[in-house]
Order: sequence, then C-alpha cells, then structure tokens
Amino acid sequence: MIYERRLADPDLAGAALAARVAGWLADALDRRPSATLVVSGGSTPVPFFRRLSRLDLPWSRVRVTLADERWVEPSHPDSNEGLVRRELLANRAASARWSGLWNAAATPEEGRAEAAARLAALLPIEVAVLGLGADGHTASLFPGAPGVAAALDPEGEATVVAVRPPAAPHPRLSLSLAALLGSNRLALHLTGDEKWQVYRRAADAATADGLPVGALLREAAGRIEVYWAPTTSGKDAIGENPGR
Ligand code: 6PG
Repeated sequence: MIYERRLADPDLAGAALAARVAGWLADALDRRPSATLVVSGGSTPVPFFRRLSRLDLPWSRVRVTLADERWVEPSHPDSNEGLVRRELLANRAASARWSGLWNAAATPEEGRAEAAARLAALLPIEVAVLGLGADGHTASLFPGAPGVAAALDPEGEATVVAVRPPAAPHPRLSLSLAALLGSNRLALHLTGDEKWQVYRRAADAATADGLPVGALLREAAGRIEVYWAPTTSGKDAIGENPGR
C-alpha cells in the first residue's frame, strides 16, 4: 500500500511535502533532542526546499544530510551540497545543522569511509525524501551501475556506497537501500508524466524488475508516501489515493 498525493503544480507539491516533513520532524523533536533529515539533489526538490526553509521548527535541533552526492566541490553548479546550502539552509532553516557526504578525498571510493562515519553520527534517520530518475534510479542507485545489486540489498551492511553511473554525469556517493530503509519516514518526490509512469511501473511487482526504485517501494511499502505534480499545472491532476 502506497499513499499518493497528486498536486496541481510543482509548487503545491513542494508545499504539501514540506508541511508533511515539518510535521514528521516536529513529532520526532517532541520526543528527542535532535532529528535527522535526509534530502536529495537534482531539480525537483527546489520548491520543497524553499517552502520547508520558511516553516517554523526548532531548526537548530534538525540535522540535515544528503541521500546522494555528485563528487564535485560544493561550489560546482552540479553539487547537491551547494543546492541544499542555497535553497534549504536559508530563512528559518539557516540554523539547521549540516553534515554532507562530500569531503576532500579525490574520489568517492576514497571518500566513502569518511562519509559513512559522518552518517553514523547522524543515525537514526527520521525522514528521508528521495527523488526519481526516468531510468528508475533513486538516490544514486542507478540501474546497470557496477555494484548496484549489493547496494540494493535490503539487508546489506554498507550504509554509503560509491557509484559510477553508466549514463549520468559525475561519480557519486549514495546511501544504500539498507541505510535508507532505516529511516523512520520516507517520501518519494517526483514531477511530470514520464516519471509518474516510471513510478507506476516500479510500484507494480510485475513490472518493477530492473528499476532500483522498485526495490525501495517494495521494501518500504506501507510507510513511504509519494508526492507528485505535473510539470505544467493542470486541475485534472489533483487527487489523493490513500493506498494502492
Ligand atoms: C541526484 C539526485 C537524484 C535525483 C534524480 C531526479 O543527485 O541526482 O539525488 O537521485 O533525485 O536524479 O533528479 P531531478 O529532480 O533533477 O529530475
């Protein structure tokens, strides 16, 4: 069963997801001194980041990291850390505590152990918000990447894996599926008809084969929520499906 929310445009989807994530974090912070939020890069999260950064939370008790990182300096336009620093760690969220995956190592393979140690200090993950690629990747768990089967093992021991995507730019670090499944709350955030079709294929066991996001949806069924909007606004899109 997967809870799905379909909103009329990307800004409304970002706002709905931001409200949900803020509620999850607030609940956790009622019980614990700090809570860890894992976010994704790419273009989809920008409206979500902008909305979330303006919400009222005890942000100094929120720890933020990434589901995956491209191995470029934070000042590079493709850096997920750069994106999060600009778009999420601003406004009220400027006081959140940041700990990224990128470090000064020359390659993700060499930087992996340090990133895993940093992640270990942030556990448990309270909320993870993931994206989706048209090829079925989520985080940087790309179909056809060397080692991806091990990274998708729900019982795997590695929390952070180095990934060389077959087609996408930059070598990367990614949280493994096992690490992502350790999150108390999970959301998948996507826009556009093409990605909706990929999501639907991945959510159906009969057609999910070879789509990394399918493994996530199968393993997190019942506790992952999907937020979607068309890339151009349209009233027909609006809807809510409390469980397929
Ligand atoms: C990354 C992301 C990745 C992203 C998808 C979707 O660093 O590339 O974390 O998993 O979520 O590729 O990207 P877009 O939002 O740009 O379509």
